[in-house]
Amino acid sequence: MSTDAPAAASASSTIQRDSTGRLRHLITLEGLSREELTALLDLAQFYVRAPGDFPARDKSLAGHTVANLFFEPSTRTRVSFELAAQRLGADVVNLDMTSSSRAKGESVLDTIYTLQAMHADILVMRDAEPGLPAYVARHVAPHVCILNAGEAHLSHPTQGLLDALTIRQHKPDFTQLRVLIAGDIAHSRVARSAWQALTTLGVAELRIAAPDDLMPAAGEFAGAVRYDDLDRAIEDVDVVMTLRIQRERMGAARIQDERGYHQAFGITAARMRRARPDAIVMHPGPMNRDVEIAGEVADSPQSVIQQQVTNGVAVRMAVLATIVRNVHARRQLQ
Ligand code: CP
Repeated sequence: MSTDAPAAASASSTIQRDSTGRLRHLITLEGLSREELTALLDLAQFYVRAPGDFPARDKSLAGHTVANLFFEPSTRTRVSFELAAQRLGADVVNLDMTSSSRAKGESVLDTIYTLQAMHADILVMRDAEPGLPAYVARHVAPHVCILNAGEAHLSHPTQGLLDALTIRQHKPDFTQLRVLIAGDIAHSRVARSAWQALTTLGVAELRIAAPDDLMPAAGEFAGAVRYDDLDRAIEDVDVVMTLRIQRERMGAARIQDERGYHQAFGITAARMRRARPDAIVMHPGPMNRDVEIAGEVADSPQSVIQQQVTNGVAVRMAVLATIVRNVHARRQLQ
């Protein structure tokens, strides 16, 4: 199975809705309205608890079974989907893909049909193949929902939501904000989902900064202002979002000079002084310390990186609860 990226993105925004227009799957943030994004952020905020408090729990997913299928590595996304589902009362299974039958050559659809036959009705997927979540969504039974937990370089919708929530907690009016996304933008699904969310939420100015060979193709990131000089790009911004160098999506020759990359495109304490004094700094994780971000910046009071992780559980609870609420609304109409 193979798909081209723009076609995959636009097919995903259509396929993820049911016949009433409600979200049945979450594959991309493309096509979600400002009202839909805000409702998801509001529900996520409802599930946020302060560090040290007991986590939020309810029974929104009672009777449902969530299967986590991660065909690429993950710590934050996989664990937070697992915790989110458990805290909403679902049964949860995590497939170890290195020991699943896919490693013996089983097709992804046969793996999905096997889980479906065991009453798994919410499938959380991460894969390096563009278009796979939409492809699977077209083939599952009508009661089964697909949640995209990271699709190649294209889409990471729950990361886009948790990034928007984290920004909103510090800077509630998106229309007043200058946001910088810096680093390996070409290979970043995080950057694409952040751009989709922040554009729809009305951010005043979105800047992207990358070396030439890590800049996305012309035509992508519509509306964003492009910079090849990080010192200029960071001037007076309210939010600095830096990105992991995606070595797994690069040829062997790229970014061998980590020190040089850090000097030109690393978020350092000196560079942060060019941003607004109350600017926040974000990173989706996992971090390459002292490559795309200086360790001292990651650990500084301006860093909201751990808050992004905390918000990840709340956002995934909000997405799961919303998808299941839509399942129940559909059943009422049948
Ligand atoms: N941000 C993110 O997707 O992290 P993981 O790869 O650990 O899930």
